[in-house]
Amino acid sequence: MTTTALILAAGKGTRMRSSLAKVLHPLCGRPMAGWVLTACSDAGLTPTLVVGHQADRVRDTFPGVPTALQAEQNGTGHAVACAAEVLPRQGTLVVLAGDTPLVRGATLTALVEAHTRTGALCTVLTMKVDEPGAYGRIVRGATGVERIVEAANASVEELAIDEVNSGMYAFDAAWLLDEVIPHLVPHPPKNELYLTDAIEAAAAAGRLDAACHDDADELMGVNDKAALAVATKVLRDRINLGWMEAGVTMHDPAQTYIDATVSLEQDVTLEPGVVLKGSTTIATGTQVFAHSVLEDATVGPDCKVGPFARLRPGTVLTSRVKVGNFVETKKAVLHDKVSAGHLSYLGDTEIGAGSNIGAGTITCNYDGFGKHRTEIGERAFIGSNSSLVAPVVIGADTIVAAGSTITNNVADDALALARARQKNLAGKAQDIHRRNKERAEQ
Ligand code: UD1
Ligand code: CA
Repeated sequence: MTTTALILAAGKGTRMRSSLAKVLHPLCGRPMAGWVLTACSDAGLTPTLVVGHQADRVRDTFPGVPTALQAEQNGTGHAVACAAEVLPRQGTLVVLAGDTPLVRGATLTALVEAHTRTGALCTVLTMKVDEPGAYGRIVRGATGVERIVEAANASVEELAIDEVNSGMYAFDAAWLLDEVIPHLVPHPPKNELYLTDAIEAAAAAGRLDAACHDDADELMGVNDKAALAVATKVLRDRINLGWMEAGVTMHDPAQTYIDATVSLEQDVTLEPGVVLKGSTTIATGTQVFAHSVLEDATVGPDCKVGPFARLRPGTVLTSRVKVGNFVETKKAVLHDKVSAGHLSYLGDTEIGAGSNIGAGTITCNYDGFGKHRTEIGERAFIGSNSSLVAPVVIGADTIVAAGSTITNNVADDALALARARQKNLAGKAQDIHRRNKERAEQ
């Protein structure tokens, strides 16, 4: 039997002070609620999302995930009520928040197992924190946890409690949806229905289980940009550790930024300041030197990239390609052993194996209206500071003289010279120096 996880993601996230719904803020390239969905998938849970604020945008971000609409956000209890009719009544219902991106699948698996073992009506995951802040406080009495009190409703003594609610629970589905949710009453100050009231109901029935999780960081809720940065760092460390375990060399993992969606092979080397985004993949033996940024790039084996290279979407380096400092590529396929060492823009282009792209070569791909392609054959030599005005085809084994502006196709094996002929005027230089000096002294 599958277990459903209901992920509450309808809130605006006022404390983020952003026009983007909180649960869509990216951490290491994946939206916040996407991390929760990944943990659910790791735990074998079937997710349903409660959407509300920017509902269409949230739905579009997670295609294929069933949703329920909470048109007005009247609290976490109300969010569950809005999903009640689409949820199954048998077995366990896990309820999570869309703003706890650090939770691991293994933790959810353990939560469901503990819940099933004890036969509780509710199992809540709690944690101890140094600064309980806005978290709901876990109120314990003689017989264990009695209730959760929200910070906004807590007494001074309750505010001092350092055990708090993670917002992650396993419930007996039928009990929660049919016996508790319909009877929730609103709380001041915002007249919200609190899901946390279900804890008191389970405690009153003598069937509440509270499990205090020892890694509080993993359960943190992200409510503002400062917490977003903290959570991003935790995820970055996890991603980097995973790749190092898989055989990637990092000179300084604290300064290496890899999206969750990137894929690397063993013996890739990454120097400090490297940023790998989107669907980037890098094959074995490739070195990415300091301060290079790669987005949606496909890099084959034994390439050298950077320092200070920028590979934009649609870049493909097949193998043993060299892309050096201040080279920008976009929709560019560079075949085996192509070398573009310095200061170039290579966009909308395919460059044949063994070609050398001189310093300062520019593919002029944009004419103010549309983008055009530059095709370069195998073993071509493009001299430094050449402008290749697309659309243009430069054949195999060609030479383009340095400083050329190429507007016509170049046939295989041709030498293309497209620059003004040099004139040397003998004895003229001193004259000019003298005149300049006189002018400066006037
Ligand atoms: C909630 C808990 C608190 C817990 C904390 C853990 C309640 C009343 N409080 O507080 O005990 O310590 O999480 O991080 O449950 N949401 C909706 N609809 C709403 C309101 C919220 O979908 O009407 C969603 C939000 O999008 C968010 C999640 O529920 O993903 C939690 O909401 P939030 O406002 O962040 O609750 P907290 O104040 O953090
Ligand atoms: Ca929260």
